[in-house]
Amino acid sequence: ADVAEYLQRTPRQLPSRYFYDALGSALFDAICRLPWYRVTRAETALLSRYARQILERLPRPLNISELGCGNGEKLAILLERGGERFRRVHLIDISPAALLSARARLATLPANPVTTFHGTYEEGLARLATHRSQGSWLVLFLGSNIGNFDPPAARDMLRRIRGSLVEGDALLLGTDLVKSPRVLQLAYDDPLQVTAAFNRNLLRRINDEAGGTFDLDGFAHRARWNPQHSRVEMHLVSTRQQLVRIAAADLEVEFQKDEWIWTESSYKYEPAHVLSEGCQAGFLDGEQWIDEDARFALTLFKV
Ligand code: AVI
Repeated sequence: ADVAEYLQRTPRQLPSRYFYDALGSALFDAICRLPWYRVTRAETALLSRYARQILERLPRPLNISELGCGNGEKLAILLERGGERFRRVHLIDISPAALLSARARLATLPANPVTTFHGTYEEGLARLATHRSQGSWLVLFLGSNIGNFDPPAARDMLRRIRGSLVEGDALLLGTDLVKSPRVLQLAYDDPLQVTAAFNRNLLRRINDEAGGTFDLDGFAHRARWNPQHSRVEMHLVSTRQQLVRIAAADLEVEFQKDEWIWTESSYKYEPAHVLSEGCQAGFLDGEQWIDEDARFALTLFKV
């Protein structure tokens, strides 16, 4: 139903959260290993290097919750570096496949009770607020996941996170930074076309799960940097005039040649902008660790 509503907007859209079925999550893991997509590697390097410093800023014992944990790789770095200070670990993701692999990844570490929550960030946060246990909470919102929200929604999200926390808690936020258009273009339109596969997998998913008739060859991947809005947009461009049916939504959509579906926005921040957004959401002054080469920032916001 959601899909039908978004596809009938102008321009046509599909929400980027639908990327992450099992195949989509695997393709995203592959993207994270591409030489042209540095977000994950830059963040992992920052975490490995500064985990102890970051954790020293926070009370003990500490519970930790990750919004959109993916394969659990980054959380594992913090848990490894943090030693005995952690109590509970709470994972939130919309992909059951991601939760499974995160669980498996964390099982290789000395025991921390891990609970998983399959659902949206909002649902996971609401649950966190009502299931607090002893100690403070560190919420991780990494990987520039916040970049996939448009500015009002990003603000809303930061406020929502702040609203689910109390004094002593903190948020560690990972944000990709503005960089040269050429570098951004390659990161979202890689020469191996893994990102193209990730994008077009959305149509494959609709075909499989909602009885869609998308011809995957009839839609081309396009990424473009939009400097006015400081975002990379991903589109799927119809290569010809075509009719698509989606049985589950009882919908027929006629695409003109060159008509496109907007599938993702990936907003890029300036470090100072991240700090001011955190303050506006009600956090104390943030502290930042920045990879100047890859242009990526980790910001710690305390409550
Ligand atoms: C998950 N998210 C932060 C990624 C991004 O960079 O916006 C998803 C992605 N899309 C294309 N490549 C990676």
